[in-house]
Amino acid sequence: MKTVFIETLGCAMNERDTEHMIAELSEKENYVQTDDSDNADLIIINTCSVRERPVHKLFSELGGFNKRKKPGAKIGVTGCTASHLGRDIIKRAPYVDFVLGARNVSKITEVIHKPKSVEIDIDYDESQFAFKEFRGSSYKAYVNISIGCDKACTFCIVPKTRGDEISIPVDLILNECKRASEAGAKEIFLLGQNVNNYGRRFSGDHEKVSFAQLLNRISKIDTVKRIRFTSPHPFHMDDEFMQEFASNPKVCKSMHMPLQSGSSEILKMMKRGYNKEWFLERAQKLRNMVPDVSISTDIIVAFPGESDTHFEETIDVLKQVRFEQVFSFKYSPRPLTEAALMTNEVDPEIASERLAYLQGFQNSITDELADTRLGKVYEVYFEEQRDGGFVSGRSDNNIVIKVLGDASLLGTFAKVKVTKVGRMSQVGEIIV
Ligand code: 5AD
Ligand code: SF4
Repeated sequence: MKTVFIETLGCAMNERDTEHMIAELSEKENYVQTDDSDNADLIIINTCSVRERPVHKLFSELGGFNKRKKPGAKIGVTGCTASHLGRDIIKRAPYVDFVLGARNVSKITEVIHKPKSVEIDIDYDESQFAFKEFRGSSYKAYVNISIGCDKACTFCIVPKTRGDEISIPVDLILNECKRASEAGAKEIFLLGQNVNNYGRRFSGDHEKVSFAQLLNRISKIDTVKRIRFTSPHPFHMDDEFMQEFASNPKVCKSMHMPLQSGSSEILKMMKRGYNKEWFLERAQKLRNMVPDVSISTDIIVAFPGESDTHFEETIDVLKQVRFEQVFSFKYSPRPLTEAALMTNEVDPEIASERLAYLQGFQNSITDELADTRLGKVYEVYFEEQRDGGFVSGRSDNNIVIKVLGDASLLGTFAKVKVTKVGRMSQVGEIIV
């Protein structure tokens, strides 16, 4: 047996890519996963390139691994930064043994045998590759429904690292959901860059199915009890999708709606395809259809040209929608993107002030929403053991709740009454 250590950065797609790599390596090359990088035979960093900071960190981390690794151990760089920097990674860190792009995961068992190989083709079609089965969690299964991204958001590097969008054929998805849920993963987590654009393009002649229809088909599998997905795009939130989301009891009632900016002018510069009014109308409609829905979002502050007035529009959307969770970032210019060529950058100090203000503003909303949960009862699906004798899970609408209990709770559902509220997670008691 050989051992592989993988560090995963970035999004859920990357986590799934890591699972796929482990599956291939264990099935075809006899590797087992380890937490101990110093003694591993193979060290992989599965990278993200969506912002600049993790890219800088990559080279110092690689240097550290190289110093501490055991003699003869190989080091590989995979994921989005591998796609965009390619051979330059080996030029800068010559001890790196291979570079494998985010759309070439299935080649992992080849590149480990080809010294200094670089496989970063973003036209490579992995949409029908049958990966071996491996999952980090026994209770929740990530299932990819598409690869790549067809959008052209001016700030975003992802289309250049993951290539064009291709949907995975519906029968492959259904089989995977069936297999995973029969093995105990009652919750299926569908992954794609724009999940609600599902069905737009397949690489062969496959049954055309919309995302709403896909949700419906998956929900017909008996062993699947809950379905989540990320990320939908606000532009594709049509009525068919919202109707299926609202009416299908297996589809969990939390929606990530990445707004990016509340200003219609900035949204236009970002080429997001919707404006402030559309976003507010969709969010309001969603709340009307599903009163207990929780809505989360992503915000970029200080996109080039963002004025105080533009920024106030973003705060105004936060005020109106009252998101359960906001992931906020300072704009970070990325190579290969249109926005990187824009010269009207926002002063970095103003950018920091805006981010701090936005986060403070949102924190008070998050706290107010948390307070309303005290004493309420939620159906929780338990997934994880926590320190202090706790087991945690999520409500249908994605609220993290922990209760005192042991491993026998994992993979089960229970009604839980919230006894203590907090910004990140709640404490509760199981009621019978
Ligand atoms: N700068 C800052 N944040 C970015 N994101 C994507 N690209 C950038 C960038 N260049 C954020 C978006 C996206 C999330 C995954 O990362 O908000 O939704
Ligand atoms: Fe995921 Fe985007 Fe980061 Fe790639 S760049 S790992 S797609 S978040």
